[in-house]
Amino acid sequence: MTEKEKIDYNRENKTGKTGAEKTVDWIELMEKRVSRRTYAGAVPKQEWDLLCRMAQNFQEASGIRIRPFFHVPEAFRGFKAGYGLFHGVESGFMLGGGNVPDRREKIGYFGELLVLEATRMGFGSCWVGGTYRPEALPWDPETDGKLDCLLVMGSVWEPRWKEKMLHAVIRPRSKKWEQMCAVDSPPPAWFKEGMQAVQLAPSAVNRQPVMFFWKDGNVTARVSDMNAYRDVDLGIAKLHFALAAGGNWQWGNGGVFSKG
Ligand SMILES: Cc1cc2nc3c(=O)[nH]c(=O)nc-3n(C[C@H](O)[C@H](O)[C@H](O)COP(=O)(O)O)c2cc1C
Repeated sequence: MTEKEKIDYNRENKTGKTGAEKTVDWIELMEKRVSRRTYAGAVPKQEWDLLCRMAQNFQEASGIRIRPFFHVPEAFRGFKAGYGLFHGVESGFMLGGGNVPDRREKIGYFGELLVLEATRMGFGSCWVGGTYRPEALPWDPETDGKLDCLLVMGSVWEPRWKEKMLHAVIRPRSKKWEQMCAVDSPPPAWFKEGMQAVQLAPSAVNRQPVMFFWKDGNVTARVSDMNAYRDVDLGIAKLHFALAAGGNWQWGNGGVFSKG
């Protein structure tokens, strides 16, 4: 599957479901998405089956492993109040894999497609890189490879005071899109649209580490910090850019964007 086919696949998946939407308003979905850490229940079966089918397709297209999990409360016990504390997690995905080139970037890219689809369906989600207990999960390193991170997903109530507070603490530190790019000449309008989508992308501890460059008429994306999740952040940011600007990325740090 080419990058474009992957995105078209995703679009068709959305439009085909209701028959009502002609195109997906990605920015609206990205604005709606926010990390949720308190859940009212699992994603119901019908929607869960659809998410699992998407996960299966992404797995086949990329070689990474995306496996569902249910009801493993021990995996989220014992973390400090505030950041990283999850309540009521009943469903989600484990993401990892073997020796696949750019594995972590692909995890970010395809995982975020699942996040946006769950958002479209009205569910909450959160990426989890550190605040879980891997030994409590049904992941077998022998056959599945390395477990890189989780995506928790489920039904949510309207944000309650605790989540609102955590969000108020984390979000104001968000960067402006202009701080996440460098240009050598005025870029086209679609570059700005892509960057506005990047600004809305989740990243580990909200570092927003990915820089985008407009140079000699080409767009590249690069992450230069040493954070363990930097390549997952790279994949997530590149996906947001591609959906809003329209086009495909070369995999890898410093990969080039082709406008579609
Ligand atoms: C790769 C990755 C790992 C993350 N790991 C955790 C985690 O271990 N625990 C947690 O509570 N949130 C985690 N998050 C969620 C981030 O804290 C969150 O995306 C960021 O603060 C921005 O907030 P927002 O998603 O509401 O926009 C992670 C996010 C990403 C992208």
